[in-house]
Amino acid sequence: MGIKREVVLVLDFGGQYTQLIARRIREANVFCEIVPYNISPEEIRKKEPKGIVLSGGPASVYAKNAPKCDKEIFELGYPVLGICYGAQLMTELLGGKVAPAPVKEYGKTEIVLNNTIPLFKGIERDTVVWMSHTDHIELPPPDFKVVASTDNCPIAAIANVEKKLYAVQFHPEVSHTHRGTEIIRNFLFEVCDCAADWTMDSLIEQTVKEIKAKVGKHKAVCALSGGVDSSVAAVLVDRAIHDQLVCIFVDTGLLRKNEGDMVIETFRKNYDMNIIRVDAKDRFLSRLKGVTDPEEKRKIIGNVFIEVFKEEALKIGDVKFLVQGTLYPDVIESGNGVSSTIKSHHNVGGLPEDIGFELIEPLRMLFKDEVRQVGKELGIPEEILYRQPFPGPGLAVRILGEVTEEKLEILRQADSIVLREMKKFGWYNKVWQSFAILPGIKSVGVMGDERTYAYAIILRVVDSYDGMTADWTKLPYEILESISTSITNEVPGINRVLYDITSKPPATIEWE
Ligand code: XMP
Repeated sequence: MGIKREVVLVLDFGGQYTQLIARRIREANVFCEIVPYNISPEEIRKKEPKGIVLSGGPASVYAKNAPKCDKEIFELGYPVLGICYGAQLMTELLGGKVAPAPVKEYGKTEIVLNNTIPLFKGIERDTVVWMSHTDHIELPPPDFKVVASTDNCPIAAIANVEKKLYAVQFHPEVSHTHRGTEIIRNFLFEVCDCAADWTMDSLIEQTVKEIKAKVGKHKAVCALSGGVDSSVAAVLVDRAIHDQLVCIFVDTGLLRKNEGDMVIETFRKNYDMNIIRVDAKDRFLSRLKGVTDPEEKRKIIGNVFIEVFKEEALKIGDVKFLVQGTLYPDVIESGNGVSSTIKSHHNVGGLPEDIGFELIEPLRMLFKDEVRQVGKELGIPEEILYRQPFPGPGLAVRILGEVTEEKLEILRQADSIVLREMKKFGWYNKVWQSFAILPGIKSVGVMGDERTYAYAIILRVVDSYDGMTADWTKLPYEILESISTSITNEVPGINRVLYDITSKPPATIEWE
């Protein structure tokens, strides 16, 4: 969905901080797009950017297949900021010299800046930056002057102020660079002359207009799961084409305690939207009967979901569009950039793109925190906006082996206690996810004076930034104790609680 407003382009050379650069720029209310490093000058001109940032990257500019942008980019008249690899590339392409640094720098480093140039305006001469490089600039290109240095890196930043070309060896986008935000803001406002027109209400207004124009008189459907992304996408599209949108909530029977009721009630209470609730519990459970292989379970759930969803869409008739809550990191991953560190591994919406509808993806230019901001503007309640992620296949991937009604009921109860206790202790929003797993192991216990032989529950609580890697959470003992006692006291059929102390990798967050 092309949102026309001032834009800064980030050319992606595969650096681990590329997304962070984009987020820092957007936090300054300037829209920013990540594009592949080999974008042509022609394409750049078409986008009329206010400025260009060259990201960092793992390569050496002298390596055989080093990613390089077109040299002409520096002659288009747009301001350019090269960061780390981007700085070295700018140096090399414009006639300077890059070489392996005699002393490699990694970590926080003291730097002396020339604060008379626009990029460093208002910043004290002596400050601290984050360095991470093995090559360095040995000789600046002609017409560039050195504007920062550290003990081990005499050329830590260079500038051609007249042409608005800047290159910094350090990373202003990471929070360890004390005045990094100000440096990025200086680039945007002192160098590129941006107006800061990227605000959530302008985004909503513009997106609503675009959706209206795209959908015309046709109908659209949306798979509403009650997760953050599908909820925000649904409300946004509803605002645009209210009568022509039908949201379909599929109750798979694999949801958490009261989840279906909670989601439907929340939406009914707050919005006048067309929502269909489909009870497909029996269908899912009967198809899962006797199935123990995790991949097989996932496949069946995916297929049944599509069957149910398609049937409902057919009943509605004349449906041409499908609303998907695709986010910007998935868009970058699927070919817009080259960063190797980002990888989407699940179809979050639960639906493949080729089920016969055209897509409406109102969130495809947004990061998760921006989606939450949009949601807030749209009045979506916090209990939806700040929910922990929940996998599409639901509790089925948290019951190891065959999924049965009995096990679902036990897990649902244990899970609701985990969430209740996490909220009670104020930890629910401090962690990425907290949930229960039913591994199907039985062990001997004693309750009252009775011997028991019952199931164990595994507690999984993790910290993560994006779900790609995760650390097990060092929960205070009192919370662990309260969860354990509550589960064994309140859930019949459970006599033992274990805590999973494995990070990802080597484990995954879910157990199946
Ligand atoms: P794993 O288990 O791969 O999970 O470490 C990473 C994150 O993804 C969630 N997850 C899913 N989300 N559909 C989803 O929408 C799925 O099939 C799925 N499987 C895992 C998981 O909860 C964690 O946040």
